[in-house]
Amino acid sequence: MADEIAIESSLREKRRFKPDPAWSRRANLPGKAAYGRMVKEAEKNFQRYWARHARENVSWFSPWKKILDWKPPFAKWFVGAKTNVSYNCIDRHLEGPNAWRRNKAAIIWEGEPGDRRVLTFGDLHREVGTFANVLKANGVKKGDRVVLYMPLVPELAIAMLACTRIGAVHSIIFGGFSADSIRDRVQDAGAKIVVTADGGWRRGQIVPLKKMVNDAIRKLPEVGRVIVLRRTGQDVPMRKGRDVWWHEQTEGVSPECKPAKLDSEHPLFILYTSGSTGKPKGILHTTGGYLTHVATTARYIFDLKEDDTYWCTADIGWITGHSYVVYGILANGATSVMYEGAPNWPDEERFWQIVDRYRVTVFYTAPTAIRTFMRWGEKRVKKYSLSSLRLLGTVGEPINPEAWMWYRRVVGRNRCPIVDTWWQPETGGILITPLPGAVETTPGSATRPFPGIFPEILNEQGEPCRPDEGGYLVITKPWPGMLRGIYGDPKRFREQYWSKYKDLYFTGDGARRDARGYFWIMGRVDDVMNVAGHRLSTMEIESALVSHRSVAEAAVVGRPDEIKGTAVVGFVSLEGGVEAREELRDELRQHVAREIGPVARPDEIRIAAGLPKTRSGKIMRRLLRDVAAGRETTGDTTTLEDFSVLAALRSDED
Ligand code: WTA
Repeated sequence: MADEIAIESSLREKRRFKPDPAWSRRANLPGKAAYGRMVKEAEKNFQRYWARHARENVSWFSPWKKILDWKPPFAKWFVGAKTNVSYNCIDRHLEGPNAWRRNKAAIIWEGEPGDRRVLTFGDLHREVGTFANVLKANGVKKGDRVVLYMPLVPELAIAMLACTRIGAVHSIIFGGFSADSIRDRVQDAGAKIVVTADGGWRRGQIVPLKKMVNDAIRKLPEVGRVIVLRRTGQDVPMRKGRDVWWHEQTEGVSPECKPAKLDSEHPLFILYTSGSTGKPKGILHTTGGYLTHVATTARYIFDLKEDDTYWCTADIGWITGHSYVVYGILANGATSVMYEGAPNWPDEERFWQIVDRYRVTVFYTAPTAIRTFMRWGEKRVKKYSLSSLRLLGTVGEPINPEAWMWYRRVVGRNRCPIVDTWWQPETGGILITPLPGAVETTPGSATRPFPGIFPEILNEQGEPCRPDEGGYLVITKPWPGMLRGIYGDPKRFREQYWSKYKDLYFTGDGARRDARGYFWIMGRVDDVMNVAGHRLSTMEIESALVSHRSVAEAAVVGRPDEIKGTAVVGFVSLEGGVEAREELRDELRQHVAREIGPVARPDEIRIAAGLPKTRSGKIMRRLLRDVAAGRETTGDTTTLEDFSVLAALRSDED
């Protein structure tokens, strides 16, 4: 990590896009004046402001005695109130003025092989009630942890909602993780039951989920029950007395299961993130505050309307899927599209087929996906009408302006606002984002805090940075969706997030704020380099590299250098059809010097077939740093998607 941080930020983006007045008029937050009022309301009294949203966007069985109990770093929101997440996502859409939603699509699902299912809110009610009863029959009690290791099928959402219905705490493990990661997580969570499937589909292949679970829990006798969904249909080993089939368990079971009246601070889920050290961190979220945060942000940021068909392409196994495929969307009574498989199966047009087939209106994806679509070529997108789309979003990393402009032009046809949403698993929901009907956007900036969120950028001494001066991004006031801890490890929770600055939440991200008050996230602070006394953000150099027409993707890392301290090494993959000429390396070095300044000129450019990425599409800079320095790779590589890519890079150095 940087020992001092005066990040020199050189990205200067001039293009701006005002909300279209016709769009704004229809928006849930209709224009600048309404936005200004919301900001003022939040500044005046942020607790009362969030309490208003809690009343408007969440149904409670009984009210709170206190809005916030804040004993840093431990927050309790809506203290003493009772609610239930599955009730909010399902039952309340079957009652009162919304009762007509019983036959509205809650989930529109498409499997990779092309199979399709639609579940209405009425269907979801039956399925969730049934599976909640199955969990109970298998001994699951309030507070017990249930591990879910499943493909992206409706049953994953059903199992999550069934847990919340009875107050069990789910911990979802993304289906791409290996047996070792499953074992660590099951153990850390102290789970006695795992729900999985025989397999899932990915690029035409079966991902052998059940087999992975077997390997993981072979030496964990405490796991007494595994419920297996039949998805792919191949034979899987079932261990007698421990493993049972989902379809047999649910047969003849009553769909009626009353939602438990849970305390607002009752644990809702644990989600493990890799963390930079080996041991995974179990991020803990609770009920009332989290639901308030995700329901409110989804309503305003995705501008959800009764007739929207919303599609977030994230897997439910990531926080984005928890908050904005399932909870935030269903809480609004909106329709959520889910797609099980890869974007390039059977070909690179799958996403656009899905958008046109269901007439998706709101589309939320990641910059890495957008850059991949760019590489596949805009012809693939232009073949489709995409006329239903009205709003686009991104999350996961800083989006380089080139990708932003491409997204706007090729996918949004210059018609759809883009919301670049900054947040983390720890924050529960979105914290910094434009509001689509109210905030002018500019490519590469997540713009302003969501009203009620109070970020600040501090230097090493804890003083606020000047405009455009880079520093550490912190959040100065508690918010409803904030993590409540690291499961079983309060010490690590304090150290990781609350020790750099007293009582302020430290995000681990570097950022700057421009003179207009817009935030520019520069990535994790460990991705900042000190080059000859200058602090440079790897993200900005990457963005400059990608702005060259030959480059599809770029990753920049530092390599120890005797003279400069750090030398800049750029790894790039090229656009389809571009040849890896020797002169190109020099051309790219000069290009960066022109775009940012000579200080940022890479000392070395390495051309690769593809860059090593985590399962969620983030480039693994840690590995590339080792490659650049000629070191052996160490540490946890379970999140690495493609080892062959790494091998290819290594041979490139010989
Ligand atoms: C980065 C996703 C810039 C950031 C919810 C954060 C972003 C980490 C953005 C968390 C964005 C996420 N602009 N950077 N819009 N969104 N990040 O675990 O560094 O996938 O701390 O959670 O991604 O990523 P994660």
